[in-house]
Amino acid sequence: MHFKTKILKNSKKNILEVVSKLDSGEVIGLPTETVYGLAGRCDNKNTIDNIYKIKSRPKNNPLIIHYSNPNDALRDIYADSRAIELAKKFWPGPLSIVAKIKSRSIAREALADLNTVAVRVPSNKIFLDVLNKLKTPLAAPSANRYGKISPTSAKDVYEELNSKISIILDGGPSIIGLESTVIDLTEKDTKILRYGGLNKQEINKIISLDNNKTIKIFISPGLSSSHYQPDTSMRINAIRPRKNEAWLAFGAIPKHYKGIAISLSKKKCLKETAKNLYKMLRYLDKRKCAKIAVQKIPELGLGIAINDRLQKASFKKTNAKKY
Ligand code: TXA
Ligand code: MG
Repeated sequence: MHFKTKILKNSKKNILEVVSKLDSGEVIGLPTETVYGLAGRCDNKNTIDNIYKIKSRPKNNPLIIHYSNPNDALRDIYADSRAIELAKKFWPGPLSIVAKIKSRSIAREALADLNTVAVRVPSNKIFLDVLNKLKTPLAAPSANRYGKISPTSAKDVYEELNSKISIILDGGPSIIGLESTVIDLTEKDTKILRYGGLNKQEINKIISLDNNKTIKIFISPGLSSSHYQPDTSMRINAIRPRKNEAWLAFGAIPKHYKGIAISLSKKKCLKETAKNLYKMLRYLDKRKCAKIAVQKIPELGLGIAINDRLQKASFKKTNAKKY
């Protein structure tokens, strides 16, 4: 299908149009607090097939299901005390919980044939408004082409998926700028599958995990080592820029630096860095430099998720531009 993609402002009329299209099975670009999502009703096989097609996403990579409230989300999984505690503390917000699935109404196609599901309650007011009016949970991966940088504005979604969807609802810039943290509660050991907008220390406070033996990282179905990639090749953990490199600084930009340079956060704030990361990578990618060098970012708090994305963004470029 070929659409003339519209970016719509958040208004009563536009929300109703979006809800009606979603209801009839269409796929729409919607804002969340983490990144923009490519949303469609989770109980419609064709809709889910379309989401995979629009993103060119492999079918073995399951989708996160988004709910308007914690009770509905918990009702669709086998929720133990960890799930209930985490939901109470962090929903709505940037946490996705993976657990054994109880619901029979979620299309199998969204689950990549697993007997588990990832559920989350987003905090973005516009997304919640849509969910409340629609009354059906929404499957929503990030609204980028597979392997590319996640979008943090309506314009980014347009750049990624122009003509593949009919509507993008504009909710302004994503306030967190990194995807949700994905936590796996299917086994006794709690595992973080993807570091994201909610950091490990916060989770540790609630389910008292105090060492790395209990929180392990392992490969989630869709978590390949190359992802979130700009076209320009990247060098990370850099101390200073080299000749012909664009400089993505963490902190101040050297006074007399003559090349292309931009700072993720002049005051070295990790929250601000997370919010700016994808936006600035997109910006530098468009400047067509030989390489993007990213200044070293501390591996703590949100820095863990930021470094994870940077590692994936810089992993063995296969499609790097040649100069
Ligand atoms: O912040 C977010 O989570 C955004 C917004 C739109 O909500 N969504 C998002 O979705 O990042 P996506 O599809 O780009 O990433 C979902 C990740 C995938 O890496 C997938 O492998 C993992 O969650 N996942 C989903 N269901 C899973 C399951 N049952 N078991 C293990 N991992 C799962
Ligand atoms: Mg994604």
